[in-house]
Amino acid sequence: MATVDDKKIIFSMVGVSKTIQQNQKQILKNIYLSFYYGAKIGIIGLNGAGKSTLMKIIAGLETQYQGQVVFAPGYSVGYLPQDPQLDPTKTVKEVVQEGVQHVVDTLKEFEEINLKFGMPEYYEDPEKMDKLFARQAELQDIIDATDAWNLDNRLERAMEW
Ligand SMILES: Nc1ncnc2c1ncn2[C@@H]1O[C@H](COP(=O)(O)OP(=O)(O)O)[C@@H](O)[C@H]1O
Ligand SMILES: [Mg+2]
Repeated sequence: MATVDDKKIIFSMVGVSKTIQQNQKQILKNIYLSFYYGAKIGIIGLNGAGKSTLMKIIAGLETQYQGQVVFAPGYSVGYLPQDPQLDPTKTVKEVVQEGVQHVVDTLKEFEEINLKFGMPEYYEDPEKMDKLFARQAELQDIIDATDAWNLDNRLERAMEW
């Protein structure tokens, strides 16, 4: 259903230009653009055309430019960089494992539940058993959806490439 917000402009760039100080190279020249609320926008251009620079200006990471960047009140920007900053003290495998920690935790909880099924404290208490079954079903869905059973295999395979 169409709402007022559909035609609301939440972001504008007004006459933005950018010149690299060191070599006086002009990367962006007099850019005007506006985003509607809810719009999905792609920026297309050759390598070095200035896409990343434009995004960094939108994100507020690049502040050396001429012109204006305007957000409607109440709106802000999130930025997902192309080259993420990785922790230099960690190995690649550690970084990847951290990223899948939630999957590892899910597998661990699943195994803990399986152990509990064999404990009198649980199997002698129907209420506790019901809770275990319910939680097990939830975890099973998460595990299936993320192909978590194969996580170790997938990490090992990725490391060999
Ligand atoms: N900090 C910088 N110093 C010097 N040149 C830069 C800097 N950032 C970008 N450039 C130059 O500006 C141009 C646009 O870069 P960029 O925005 O990364 O383009 P794109 O993302 O479209 O490939 C390129 O020629 C690049 O070499
Ligand atoms: Mg780029």
